[in-house]
Amino acid sequence: MADGLSKKRILSGIQPSGEGIFTLGNYIGAVRNWSRMQEEFDCAYFIADLHSITVRQDPKMLKQQTLSAFALLLACGIDPEKNLVFVQSHVHEHAELGWIMSCYSQFGELSRMTQFKDKSSKHADNVNAGLFTYPALMAADILLYQADLVPVGADQKQHLEFTRDVATRFNNLYGEVFKLPEPYIPPMGAKIMSLQEPDKKMSKSDPNPKSKVFILDEENVILKKFKSAVTDSETEVVYREGKDGINNLMTIYASITGGTYDEIAQEFAGKGYGDFKVCVGQCVADELKPVREEYARLMQDKKYVEELMKKGAENAGYVASRTLNKVKKKVGLYL
Ligand code: TRP
Repeated sequence: MADGLSKKRILSGIQPSGEGIFTLGNYIGAVRNWSRMQEEFDCAYFIADLHSITVRQDPKMLKQQTLSAFALLLACGIDPEKNLVFVQSHVHEHAELGWIMSCYSQFGELSRMTQFKDKSSKHADNVNAGLFTYPALMAADILLYQADLVPVGADQKQHLEFTRDVATRFNNLYGEVFKLPEPYIPPMGAKIMSLQEPDKKMSKSDPNPKSKVFILDEENVILKKFKSAVTDSETEVVYREGKDGINNLMTIYASITGGTYDEIAQEFAGKGYGDFKVCVGQCVADELKPVREEYARLMQDKKYVEELMKKGAENAGYVASRTLNKVKKKVGLYL
């Protein structure tokens, strides 16, 4: 494993909840970049199962999806020998530091979090304390590993700001305990939109199955979804304002083939949207095929995957416990 002295540490988490685990959006926007960053950075990636239970989950499904999500990280090429890859709840330091961080979080600032406001209106029957202190746990996730960089989407940026605020407050009281993390926008990160409403982000929780492609979708399913992708009433494949559907398909195609928008426009000059959709669907299916195959292979050997989970938790726990002990001492907890 990298020594952590020479390389910067990058950390990110992904929730295991939601149907079908990861979408093409998660893959292009996040997970694929995670595996590309492992040469340059010292990486820590985890399945944020403790965050998932802030919303009511079916216990059997959550358990199954945690295994699947973990296997999928490996199938996407994240190497557990080089990185910390683990399940959040397997490393008890997260919950412990999460509690301590909640004691340094103010009611007012937590009340202002847009995700809390959104989720508490969406789940009005279950506005629980965990939903409220969610950012304190997320701060703990990040600070335990002294992460330099955190790749997050726009929806999580406020939580990262909050993490910096809490860390600064703590450091001002007790000295330099925590490193202040910066947001990281990967060079190839792209935001993938819904195939049906291309002005909205592709989301796991979208009720319309045609709006999203899952990493594990079979080839024929992927092709079908792309065929029914919403475009516009024009005919030209070009990236232009007002052509959200085509722009989204071009973004997907570009991020997989590596071509520019101009090159794509040339490739499809004189051809219709129909041809273009088939090509985009096919390139997505081809890109995801090895991931799907590796995932299937891993899931046949559950023991092996569980073994890697356990090792991952041990390695992560080693790093996390050092920070936690320091924090406990500073705060005055009797060690
Ligand atoms: N809250 C993040 C999300 O829902 C997941 C997450 C939990 C996370 N802890 C994190 C992301 C720490 C980055 C760093 O997407």
